[in-house]
Amino acid sequence: MEHQATQRNSSSDHLFDASSLRYLGELRAEALHHGAVHHPYLTALREGTLRDPQEALRDFARQYQGYSAWFPHFLAAVDKRLPQELRSILDENKAEESGCYDEETLLELEGAGLQREWVNGVPHPELFRRFQRALSVEPDAAISPEAPVSRWRQELLTLLQNDHPAAAIGALGLGTELVVSHMYASVLESVDRFGKISPEGRSFLVLHALVDDAHAESLLKLAQRFAVDGEGRAALARGMRAALEMRAEFWDELLKRGSTTKEDAA
Ligand SMILES: [Fe+2]
Repeated sequence: MEHQATQRNSSSDHLFDASSLRYLGELRAEALHHGAVHHPYLTALREGTLRDPQEALRDFARQYQGYSAWFPHFLAAVDKRLPQELRSILDENKAEESGCYDEETLLELEGAGLQREWVNGVPHPELFRRFQRALSVEPDAAISPEAPVSRWRQELLTLLQNDHPAAAIGALGLGTELVVSHMYASVLESVDRFGKISPEGRSFLVLHALVDDAHAESLLKLAQRFAVDGEGRAALARGMRAALEMRAEFWDELLKRGSTTKEDAA
């Protein structure tokens, strides 16, 4: 213990950084264990225990489109909250959202079974519309203000625009990009069991399972800049938890809509 104390005094900068990284590591673990990531809706979707597994997938595709269509707004909102010198960190995320990938990423996507012409130059909201069409869901159907996704996306956008910049980064990085690949794995499993769609139609899900981990890394780099004091740390945690709670509430709603019994819907 004494030895550690000496080290702490002799290289305080290094240990200050280590303490930020340790804090981010704790937040990361909390996000990955959150109820939104291991939600009973995702289990039911994957295992086919909802009332009508195919209709449940179509309901997911109708509702989630409202979120996917706003994702570029979420990214732009976070970007605006950043000091000028940090904005380039999100350039790759923004480019990829518009369908622009470097060769290394394209090769990785091909390795996962995607043909480059399915994804190269195709913005992600369009990839989601293709997923909808593959499931015979009308793409871009109007979203009612009462729909579960309406509240979710508005609350998330409001947080990103108005809370502390570190809360915005916590929400979109730790609370979103870091965890979506885990959740999309369940949706993909459901699609493969019950959706029976073309390989191209499932590109949105396959692609995000791969690229969002890299997107999370960019946002975590940003998070490190804010994890150096109490205010930044509290805001990162607040934004992350709020985004995860909002998503869990959205899954709650979809579970209710797709459940067989009152007990399931409770
Ligand atoms: Fe995306």
